[in-house]
Amino acid sequence: MSVLKIYKYPENVLKKKALKIENIDGGLQTLIDDMVQTMYNAPGIGLAANQVGELKRLVVIDISTKEKSYPLIIVINPEIVHADKFEPSEEGCLSLPGCTISVDRASEIVVRGIDRNGNPIEIEAKGLLARAFQHELDHLDGIVLFDKLSPIKREFYKKKYLKSLKDEK
Ligand code: NI
Repeated sequence: MSVLKIYKYPENVLKKKALKIENIDGGLQTLIDDMVQTMYNAPGIGLAANQVGELKRLVVIDISTKEKSYPLIIVINPEIVHADKFEPSEEGCLSLPGCTISVDRASEIVVRGIDRNGNPIEIEAKGLLARAFQHELDHLDGIVLFDKLSPIKREFYKKKYLKSLKDEK
């Protein structure tokens, strides 16, 4: 297993739609293991394949560092089939270091997809887990937190973020 590079906004791969995974092969298993290790190393509670430079519909999530007794979740080709009870809350993103943005998300969702063995799965998620899923699924569609804002706020947060990147160098 290896820790992969996490791509940061405004790199292009974060703005692109990831493609449906057709084959669950050895290469994909390696990518899954590497993404899990990269997420724990960051540390973060979720990671989408776009964030490590792969345009594949794959997410890994583990919110157990924030809320106890949740398992590691790996979903291939995830889809939200039900979303209910929207509420705002602050979110961060490993691809937007230093940014915290308030986003409206459903607090109750149902996700369908397949697990790493190729079996169909359905997950009912609430609260933080539901939020993490929606955040990671946005990445698969090339959407980052900035895109959830009104145009005026978007410009403000983007400018602030890009300036902080520059100042770091
Ligand atoms: Ni993110």
